[in-house]
Amino acid sequence: MITSGKGGVGKTTVCANLGVYLSRLGFRVAMLDVDIGLNNLDVVMGMEKNVVFDITDVVSGKCRVRQALIEDYSYPSLYLLPSSHSYASSKITGEHIKNITDIIDHSFDYILIDCPAGVEAGFHRAVYPANEAIVVVTPHISSLRDADKVLSILSKYQIENKYLVINRMRGDLLLNGEMLSLESIMKSMNIPLVGVIPEDDSVGKMSSNGRILLDFESARAFTLLAENIHNGSRKIFDCTYKYRGVLGFFKRNIKKHV
Ligand SMILES: Nc1ncnc2c1ncn2[C@@H]1O[C@H](COP(=O)(O)OP(=O)(O)OP(=O)(O)O)[C@@H](O)[C@H]1O
Ligand SMILES: [Mg+2]
Repeated sequence: MITSGKGGVGKTTVCANLGVYLSRLGFRVAMLDVDIGLNNLDVVMGMEKNVVFDITDVVSGKCRVRQALIEDYSYPSLYLLPSSHSYASSKITGEHIKNITDIIDHSFDYILIDCPAGVEAGFHRAVYPANEAIVVVTPHISSLRDADKVLSILSKYQIENKYLVINRMRGDLLLNGEMLSLESIMKSMNIPLVGVIPEDDSVGKMSSNGRILLDFESARAFTLLAENIHNGSRKIFDCTYKYRGVLGFFKRNIKKHV
């Protein structure tokens, strides 16, 4: 599952990109949008128009899981189970989601569950079938606090591994000492860091132009994240590289004054 506690920190973005980059590494990936009532993943993936059935149709028995899974033809073996626009979401339970993951488990190398914000019913529904959790934070105290709450709740579930992804990191602010450092974030979260994703305007573009972009700065960061998740390596993207040296110094200062 991809979770955070705090809303808007980049769960759906991380889920979509991780799905894309794991599939590019040759794995069969299913992404489940469990943010019921607020379909986001299909929009970010540019697959909204292809939705025929959604997760509520599966749960209510209107269709089989296979019929609701949409294949993303741009990437090999990448599938999405969309959430619904509207539904009395309380009717969907963690057991329902677990039934779905049990049915498709043998067909996929990875099943990514995009979790809603908060730690209420939607969170518990998403965590129930999960055996690993990626906790997404931004380098802000409020995000770390909420993630900390999530970690303590996760300890009550059978989650084998918990991983940290720091999203929206600003290399210029890091070098200027104006943003929480990686070390301080890692220390306060105390779970293995598997990815650092830079603040990158192109990430937003992918949702508005309908497709995920592959040739932007964070592409390297997402590739490293997918590799770390798969092979246990811990290669972390250096967000500060373009702000180092004389040229970098000017870039940093220009950015500061824009
Ligand atoms: N690294 C990034 N650089 C720039 N923009 C980003 C980055 N990550 C996410 N965003 C933007 O932040 C916004 C929120 O991201 P996203 O929807 O992935 O968050 P979320 O945690 O899933 O939100 P919610 O809690 O509402 O489900 C989006 O507009 C997205 O494009
Ligand atoms: Mg989301």
